[in-house]
Amino acid sequence: MIHELSSNTVAIITGASSGIGRATALALAGKGSRLSLLARSESDLSEVVEEAKARGASDVRYFACDVRDESAVDRAVVATLDGFGRIDVLINSAGLSLNGEVDGYSLEDWRAVIDTNLTGTFLTCRAVVPAMKRQGGGQIINISSGAGRNGIKEMAAYCASKFGVIGFTESLALEVRNQNIRVSVLLPGSVATDFSRVAKRAGGARTEAAREIGYSMTAEEVASVIVAMLEQPDQAWMSEVTLRPLNLELRRTRI
Ligand SMILES: NC(=O)c1ccc[n+]([C@@H]2O[C@H](COP(=O)([O-])OP(=O)(O)OC[C@H]3O[C@@H](n4cnc5c(N)ncnc54)[C@H](OP(=O)(O)O)[C@@H]3O)[C@@H](O)[C@H]2O)c1
Repeated sequence: MIHELSSNTVAIITGASSGIGRATALALAGKGSRLSLLARSESDLSEVVEEAKARGASDVRYFACDVRDESAVDRAVVATLDGFGRIDVLINSAGLSLNGEVDGYSLEDWRAVIDTNLTGTFLTCRAVVPAMKRQGGGQIINISSGAGRNGIKEMAAYCASKFGVIGFTESLALEVRNQNIRVSVLLPGSVATDFSRVAKRAGGARTEAAREIGYSMTAEEVASVIVAMLEQPDQAWMSEVTLRPLNLELRRTRI
């Protein structure tokens, strides 16, 4: 039987204020799901809440939460359980990159990237897994990157964090697979979001978009793949998905 998303589904999405997280929230809203949205920007989150309600989400709550903050993550998960009574899905999309050569890269920027992308993923997973075990199952998708398989110059911290997300996800997945919890990792290539615009060089100066938007997928395309990963047959586990833009020339003219 295919596991279908519905108004019974409760999903926590981190990084829901923007990009892939926001698009995933709206895609799950279209399935009528109940949503718990996490990010730091309360004003952006409240806009996504309104959009999600308009798309058909049966209930939406949001929590201004820095995923680096252990107690803030635990509070958001407890509040989600109090409000909805269960957690079926966790999507970890919160992330950032601060770019710069290792020679000259600050420890502060290193910690910001590792703590957000890797430790944040650990903290949210640790907080939801006990509830998923109690209720007899659940699904977690952690978003790594193509940069989780290949080193990229000036992105050492980001690559280290995303390599780490893959190792963490594979290990957790083996710990919980016999409790009907599917833990998967998604490795997207370039996606046209604010991510590359937000990425800055260590030292403070913002860079132009790091990549040609014409070579990117859209956040909505990634979200539709996330929905497909969630709607697998009960006994099938899509453990890892690598996603790349297909026709680069076509992309150039379309976006
Ligand atoms: N775009 C790409 O080309 C690409 C490719 C491969 C993988 N990815 C990965 O996909 C994920 C989503 O990226 P995106 O492209 O959607 O970027 P985005 O549009 O910049 O979104 C990033 C999200 O992460 C949230 N965030 C950042 N730091 C946070 C923190 N400390 N605590 C809580 N939330 C935090 C941001 O919200 P606030 O600022 O409001 O907190 C925002 O909602 C990231 O993990 C990224 O590494 C992106």
